[in-house]
Amino acid sequence: MALGKIGRSLTALEIFDLVRSDLDQVEREIGLESVASVDAVTYIGQYLQSGGGKRLRPILVLLCGKLFGESNAGLVRMAAVVEMIHTATLVHDDVIDMAKTRRGRPSINVVWGHHISVLAGDWLYMQAFQVALRERSFPMLDLLINLTQMMVEGELLQLERIGKIGVTEADYMELIDRKTASLFSACARLGAMSSGADEARETRLGEYAWNLGIAFQLIDDVLDFTSREKILGKPVGNDLREGKVTLPLIYALESAEPEERRLVETVLADGNYDQVPFGKILHILRRYGGIERAQERAQAFTDKARAVISEFPDSPYQRALFAVTDLITDRDH
Ligand code: IPE
Ligand code: IPE
Ligand code: MG
Ligand code: MG
Repeated sequence: MALGKIGRSLTALEIFDLVRSDLDQVEREIGLESVASVDAVTYIGQYLQSGGGKRLRPILVLLCGKLFGESNAGLVRMAAVVEMIHTATLVHDDVIDMAKTRRGRPSINVVWGHHISVLAGDWLYMQAFQVALRERSFPMLDLLINLTQMMVEGELLQLERIGKIGVTEADYMELIDRKTASLFSACARLGAMSSGADEARETRLGEYAWNLGIAFQLIDDVLDFTSREKILGKPVGNDLREGKVTLPLIYALESAEPEERRLVETVLADGNYDQVPFGKILHILRRYGGIERAQERAQAFTDKARAVISEFPDSPYQRALFAVTDLITDRDH
């Protein structure tokens, strides 16, 4: 894992050290559980696992679980489950978005084609549920099923809005709640559940992670404009090319001139930057402070997350969860 900037109270490395050995077990679990009787699925599983990824979601499960007690087999299992669900959503998402690159390598749909990718994604989803089932916990299954449906509905809503310039801030917030924050929230709650936390604390921790997830996606959408492909592991300017109008652009469009609006519409219609270079879009964003405003929004959500986690008793895990908020907003990929 590349370890961005230093956290306010704990460094990224210190956070990582708190869960390093658990995370090794999570990797082992994912490896063991990604073997199918059909080779293609096994190869895809290996390709995905070796392709990097920040493992943020399992880290969140582990930190939240260890906030309430020692690590345990169930906690490690749920950390593996959320990463498998995350991976399955990415496989399907890349098919839907016709993505070319993921985690700095050709995406699954490019290597194996759409048909196999869809089926491999299905298999991964079901395998995640198979692993989760071993906990024999209806509340956990209930949470995971609701979550998966929320995320799929989010992708469907996103499809409805693809190519539309009139996406509002409220539309956008609903989307990122579904496609990203809901999974973050589930991670925290599953961690708490695995360690026997009471319902009130589980809910509160879920709120912490929900705010973190919203901030994470806001920054992801900022990075789509400001980063570079080599660092990001996926092409820059991709969202607009894919027809997605995200918050920095929504803000800029509020003040943009009709001509500038037309430039954005051209990219949306073309699905490329052939007529309107990416630099022109960046110029519009900078002119109206779209990037800064979206960053400020992200900051407001991490502030909220910090306020919630501050209610929990001081411990290395509590401090780590506090410091994670800075890593989310200061990251470069
Ligand atoms: C990608 O998530 C999907 C989004 C919610 C933006 P990550 O950026 O956490 O992906 P990996 O797992 O590190 O590749
Ligand atoms: C990622 O969404 C998929 C989910 C979070 C379900 P995006 O399409 O916005 O993310 P990238 O840009 O492909 O990582
Ligand atoms: Mg995508
Ligand atoms: Mg994106």
